[in-house]
Amino acid sequence: MSNYSIKNLEEYFQVYRKSVRNPEMFWEEIAEEHFIWRKRWDKVLSWDFKKPEIKWFEGAKLNITENCIDRHLRTKGEKTAILFEPNDPKEDAQHITYNRLYERVNQFANVLKDHGIKKGDRVCIYLPMIPELAISTLACARIGAVHSVVFAGFSSKALATRINDSSCKMVITSDGSYRGSKTIDLKGIVDEALEECTSVDTVLVAKRINSEIKMKKGRDKWLKPLLEAASVECAPEIMDAEDPLFILYTSGSTGMPKGMVHTTAGYMVYTAYTFKNVFNYRQNDVYWCTADIGWITGHSYIVYGPLANGATTVMFEGVPNYPDWGRFWDVIDKHKVTQFYTAPTAIRALAKENIECVDKHNLSSLKVLGTVGEPINEEAWHWYNDNVGKKKSPIVDTWWQTETGGIMITSLPYITPTKPTYATLPFPGIQPALMDENGEEITGNQVDGRLCVKYPWPSMARTIWGNHQRYKETYFSAFEDMYFTGDGALRDEVGYYRITGRVDDVIIVSGHNLGTAPIEDAINEHQAVAESAIVGFPHDIKGNALYGYVILKETGESRKHENVRKEINQLITEHIGPIAKLDKIQFVKGLPKTRSGKIMRRILRKIASKDTSNLGDTSTLLNPEVVQDIIDHSI
Ligand code: PRX
Repeated sequence: MSNYSIKNLEEYFQVYRKSVRNPEMFWEEIAEEHFIWRKRWDKVLSWDFKKPEIKWFEGAKLNITENCIDRHLRTKGEKTAILFEPNDPKEDAQHITYNRLYERVNQFANVLKDHGIKKGDRVCIYLPMIPELAISTLACARIGAVHSVVFAGFSSKALATRINDSSCKMVITSDGSYRGSKTIDLKGIVDEALEECTSVDTVLVAKRINSEIKMKKGRDKWLKPLLEAASVECAPEIMDAEDPLFILYTSGSTGMPKGMVHTTAGYMVYTAYTFKNVFNYRQNDVYWCTADIGWITGHSYIVYGPLANGATTVMFEGVPNYPDWGRFWDVIDKHKVTQFYTAPTAIRALAKENIECVDKHNLSSLKVLGTVGEPINEEAWHWYNDNVGKKKSPIVDTWWQTETGGIMITSLPYITPTKPTYATLPFPGIQPALMDENGEEITGNQVDGRLCVKYPWPSMARTIWGNHQRYKETYFSAFEDMYFTGDGALRDEVGYYRITGRVDDVIIVSGHNLGTAPIEDAINEHQAVAESAIVGFPHDIKGNALYGYVILKETGESRKHENVRKEINQLITEHIGPIAKLDKIQFVKGLPKTRSGKIMRRILRKIASKDTSNLGDTSTLLNPEVVQDIIDHSI
């Protein structure tokens, strides 16, 4: 018998030990008992972190949508699969049952096929959080097309880069989206992006805001009539375990985002198993993750993980402050939400508002609270625990990444004693290691180092689309035979992990990963800019905000400086999106550089954080004189 549902701490340790002692047997039991396979695997795992090459359940054949939808129809056909809560609370929520989801996914899949989409083709999905987003991802999976969901807050340039990188044949979008009291012209953004793309033949457009939009003849099609005319039956494409399921882009240390490739069987097994245990999901629960499906959290824990368990998963189109700051709590009471999973940045923003916004709600349905995306500070943890969980609902602080596909380090609710700011213990099957700068593993407790993983797990990304070399260099070259996460962590006296933050050039702003390079590239496009460097600094709500140091080609009047500041943020919005705008921009005469010409970001980070008491040895810099000048004029 596998331990699909872990019941107490002793069992967790037993299961964990088993998963380390005999990983293949461990995962095989879980895969065997809880999923449907068209053909069994020949080999559970083969791996080589040097190449790197990782294969799980090789030889197996399956379709993930059969596991997420079809197999639930007999027992849960009339159960709500997706509970859609619209942006406007006056609009009715939609309860999409498993029966209806089956029909809608199949209709969508047939429309994709009718437009020439075949197994292996890439389809870009650029949609707001409306049911069509979940349904179109599942429709791709139904026919074996590889979905590439791009968060609908990205700009047209960022969208074009992603469409081109994986040569998508189709884009699925909507006439627009709601965001609180505003609307956004998504179709206009797609039109602009497609001026730079040649691979796209078809754009399918969902109607959401009923705006007047331009439809390009021969390319753009309204979805509704196509769906209505399509059959509700579509046989699933039978996939190999290691066939790609989706590509999801994440920022990196160069201007080009990394298209992380996730494959089918391992991803399914791991997201399902983690979902069940991390959220302690029971059959009548109503689970709500507030993330957008444009991020990995939405892929794994709004769509695939919950549906693989036959759960009811809430999809929320709105924002936490519309029509007011009580919206999250309204939704929880309205739908009797049992598990609530959100980001520390949202918690901090909510905690700033009048406590009445929370207190006038009942919230007694809640059983488990979760956080993800960035370290949670102690104050926010306690606010969440006291005011939302009323000290009864355990908080699971879940650490993981786009690359890991699923939750890696987390407590299990009602099982692991929690400790504020600590993600606590590795999930079964996960073997973390802390490494020092010389590449040695740091053993024992009460230590800190760079967080790596020693052994493969089923949902790890297999490659970067079109660039395996970059995959190898980014994740498998820093430490021999280890997956390097890019995070720092410490391990306390009982072996609990606390993630301390990124140790590379990625900055997490409001839970969004932002690479410094793409932002600097955008700034440097400004004709007045000679050079720039971006660092993060602590921010009350966002966790980190961005501080830009900019060298101008010519120094000028301060009025002009103001204009340049605005234009820089406009450029960033155009190239990446508003999430990457800078909070502070300081014009400097020079940037501190090492003798090999590398910018010393460590010094810039300290200045931005107003922590200049110990800058370390600056005498080895190429230009130590610039440091004092930067400090004197810092904002
Ligand atoms: O730095 C870690 C941080 O978010 C990074 C991964 O970001 P992304 O790929 O966008 O995925 C976010 C959602 C899974 C990590 O390298 N991070 C994520 N969760 C936590 C966290 N940092 C601290 N605590 C967490 N619980």
